[in-house]
Amino acid sequence: MAERDSFFITTPIFYVNDVPHIGHGYTEVAADVLARWHRQRGDDTWLLTGTDEHGQKILRTATANEVTPKQWADRLVENAWKPLLATLDISNDDFIRTTDERHEENVKVFLQRLYDRGYIYTGEFEGFYCVGCEEYKQESDLVDGEGEFAGQKVCAIHSKPVELLKEKNYFFKMSEFGPQLLKLYEEHPEFVQPASARNEVVSFVRQGLTDLSISRSSFDWGIKLPWDESHVLYVWIDALLNYITAVGYGQDDEAFARRWPAQVHLVGKDILRFHAVIWPALLLAAGLELPKHVFGHGWLLVGGEKMSKSKLTGIAPTQITDVFGSDAFRYYFMRAISFGHDGSFSWEDIASRYESELANGYGNLASRVLAMIERYFDGAVPEAGELSAADRVIVELVEAVPTIADAHFAEFKINEALAEIWRIVDALNGYITEQEPWAVAKSGDRERLATILHTAWHALGALTVLLSPVMPKATAQLWSSLATGDVRDVIVTEAAEWQRVALDTVHAIEPLFPRVDASTVPETPVPQH
Ligand code: ME8
Ligand code: MG
Repeated sequence: MAERDSFFITTPIFYVNDVPHIGHGYTEVAADVLARWHRQRGDDTWLLTGTDEHGQKILRTATANEVTPKQWADRLVENAWKPLLATLDISNDDFIRTTDERHEENVKVFLQRLYDRGYIYTGEFEGFYCVGCEEYKQESDLVDGEGEFAGQKVCAIHSKPVELLKEKNYFFKMSEFGPQLLKLYEEHPEFVQPASARNEVVSFVRQGLTDLSISRSSFDWGIKLPWDESHVLYVWIDALLNYITAVGYGQDDEAFARRWPAQVHLVGKDILRFHAVIWPALLLAAGLELPKHVFGHGWLLVGGEKMSKSKLTGIAPTQITDVFGSDAFRYYFMRAISFGHDGSFSWEDIASRYESELANGYGNLASRVLAMIERYFDGAVPEAGELSAADRVIVELVEAVPTIADAHFAEFKINEALAEIWRIVDALNGYITEQEPWAVAKSGDRERLATILHTAWHALGALTVLLSPVMPKATAQLWSSLATGDVRDVIVTEAAEWQRVALDTVHAIEPLFPRVDASTVPETPVPQH
């Protein structure tokens, strides 16, 4: 058997100070769609997600809620973050928590290695820190505060005062890696994607890198440095290392060799620099291979601004899935937003796409085709006779689309891949309208009727294979009326051959995307300032 391509994909590990919103759901779904597609093309796929649990931000939230940080993290992981994955049908292969022993122990292995290789030294840190970002800030990152913080310098992202730190710290010699990183971006333009993200990273590194403070000693909610237990590791280094500790770094060489390097770290553009600058610098220092790609996707905007709870535009994923279901959530965000760019969410938009594309587009197509086969052929799928030019257009489209969609997925062009697949939905609906099988039935031309319905049935099955990574529930439901086995076992690039497992008879089905009562659709919130 030929060796399968490895496809190891990661999401950020999310902070457990709060519950998830649709921004986190967006990243999870994008990663899951890519993972499901690759799994279904036969790649040796591994989807990793998890939670980021150390650091001051979590410590303060826990303290404010009068529990220990571990108790707080346990509560949020069980009640909020793992349920998010179930809500959105995320097919993750692993879930790492930075409080897992496998993580803590092997982070120490990595740190000791950097230390032994001479990349760590002691120094005095004096500067600003934003706990909201868990990030050291330059003066140029700060802006003038407003309202209660007037007269103070505040973090441009959190609009809250930064803290002045003056501590003895350990530093990582990141400044040494500038030239190597620039060479990497130059020789591998595909390393940081999309191009806008790459440009930003390149100009940042060109300005010159400073060394990075990697430890804190004023609190202890973190991983202790192996050579100095009075310090805990800076939470961002701790977090980045999840990508290797989760796949066996330090303890399972075979697993590590199988998964690493990752094919892609999928992140929001807010945390691009951590992934495209600090992370590769750390890996270079340790002598480990670099991930193939870092992809920074855009923001979800609500009312024209980055969705935010403090501006009352925060939306929980369940608010959407309760109305439209998880498949529609997945489809909508993957289809409506150009992947890599910002995109606006509105309830009006999802409601209208649900109706036109899912209920009337794909859902109605499936219902019509199966109902006609039941009605005109007692459910026995008819053989096709001689193909007309119109039939051939459909047959050829079904043969061409899988490869084109696969190429888009390989370049992380999720929305383009979906638009490509949707050409079959649109073409098939047009075909049925034009061919008027109901009129052919009346005319008594059984052979022509058989050919039309066979052609439509075949395209519908292929479509169902191609859409299964995006809408696992509806496609599994429809598949059970079309074929035997699991739709996920049909290789996506061979979708046109699906009828090898087809059932001989079919029957009419319940609507895949039932009508949504308009009165249950909320109004899109407006940002409050
Ligand atoms: O940064 N639109 O975790 P975090 C789109 N723990 N995506 C959004 C979004 C929005 N409005 N808001 C959040 C951290 N996201 C670190 C990561 S990784 C080693 C450590 C998504 O909980 C997006 O993926 O603040 C963003 O990068 C991530 O949530 C930030 O999650
Ligand atoms: Mg954040």
